[in-house]
Amino acid sequence: MIPPAGRLFVHTFGCQMNEYDSGKIRARLGADGWIPTDDPADADLILLNTCSIREKAVEKMHSVLGEYRRMKKQRPLLLGIAGCVAQERGEELFRRYPDVDLVFGPDGVPKIRELVAAARAGERVLDTAFLDLETYPFVSDLDPTPSGVGAFVTIQKGCDNRCTFCIVPSTRGAEASRPHAEILAEVNGLVARGVKEITLIGQNVNSYGLKVPGELTFARLLYAVADVPGVERLRYTTSHPRDMGADVAQAYRDLPQLASHLHLPVQSGSNRVLKRMKRFYTRERYLDVVAALRAARPDLVLTTDVIVGFPGETDEDFDQTLSLLDAVGFVGSFSFKFSPRPGTPALKLEARGEAVPEAVASARLIAWQDAQRARSLAWHRSLEGRRVDVLVEGPSRHDDGVVCGRTSQFVSVNVPGDPSLVGRTVPVQVTRGFTHSCRGVMAA
Ligand code: SAH
Ligand code: SF4
Ligand code: F3S
Repeated sequence: MIPPAGRLFVHTFGCQMNEYDSGKIRARLGADGWIPTDDPADADLILLNTCSIREKAVEKMHSVLGEYRRMKKQRPLLLGIAGCVAQERGEELFRRYPDVDLVFGPDGVPKIRELVAAARAGERVLDTAFLDLETYPFVSDLDPTPSGVGAFVTIQKGCDNRCTFCIVPSTRGAEASRPHAEILAEVNGLVARGVKEITLIGQNVNSYGLKVPGELTFARLLYAVADVPGVERLRYTTSHPRDMGADVAQAYRDLPQLASHLHLPVQSGSNRVLKRMKRFYTRERYLDVVAALRAARPDLVLTTDVIVGFPGETDEDFDQTLSLLDAVGFVGSFSFKFSPRPGTPALKLEARGEAVPEAVASARLIAWQDAQRARSLAWHRSLEGRRVDVLVEGPSRHDDGVVCGRTSQFVSVNVPGDPSLVGRTVPVQVTRGFTHSCRGVMAA
């Protein structure tokens, strides 16, 4: 007998893409009667939406999986592994865990209803096939869990780059651009639910539409989304510095909705390392891109991603990376120790004896993070006494009677106020700057 649909818990690891996909899983399964829950102890179907960007993320998923497998020994439960680890190590997981009912990659999301139906009928499901790019069925249904003030909207899937450290092209497959009409329909639907801030997402948003005859370019898409009534703020991630053109800089001149913050991953400040990473830009090109964007939008702030300890990285290479902190003035960054990934070209560099010793990589990471923290603190302190506009996102998790939100420059601000302010943009006087956020008071 097929058990009835019940409660669904999706445990999400990794990036915005996975967060978004988890919403689409909830949406599609909602059509079959599955009701989302945020308590795994309460669930009849648990899906792990996994990430394999670094080995640590994979280890984390294994320990969480252990907990859910123990739950499954105690009560009837369907258990599935989705996402990037499932794509990369599907067969291994399927063999190793006979109690796991479903294993499927990111391209399984559009097919999720069929996959779960098969599992409910008693079949064990392994599906890591990539879907056809030309007819890629992007899911349009909206996540049934309540929307916040901001929402992600996917504009492309996959990645056609081959950065030598990165596993994403093999876990997400080749790039496909979502038709702009579908993107605009989703934006309209979200705005109708009260969403004020849209973040367009993809692995390399600047290449949107380039391979589809007649499709908008990324810059034109920005204009079209900004034009949707009710879109108060527009962000996007992730940009590739190689593909950032003058037309996007122009959009910063023309579109007040476009936020004054850009996350532009640089990875390294050394041309030698950038070349070995196959990023196809130089430090100079990166700085030129930043200068062009700032000429268009003088108050633009930047954050970035950095990898330390890439195979063969010398002290001089790392110093070049560190010097970018001052050259660009990043207000924040995500920084990672290089993690060798299966099947990537950088793994072979390590095998050739070019691995950076663990202690050296750790010291570099600490040096970068210390310098970054000091910069972030100085940035937030420089805002003290200034008046900023804050889009209120919700009540503070730590303090009663305090709400938090962000400025256009992505500064997180806590301010005494009532939850009725959520969704409104309010003037705030900044009173204190900390490393990760600011505090303020409502301005008249
Ligand atoms: N598409 C985005 C990056 C997605 S992955 C881009 O091109 O910028 C997010 C970040 O994880 C990357 O920017 C990189 O800094 C980091 N990363 C990716 N692979 C990694 C690896 N093997 N080891 C350490 N960090 C890695
Ligand atoms: Fe990975 Fe490079 Fe593609 Fe980003 S652009 S997802 S780092 S291969
Ligand atoms: Fe991780 Fe896959 Fe995103 S590897 S970072 S979840 S694309």
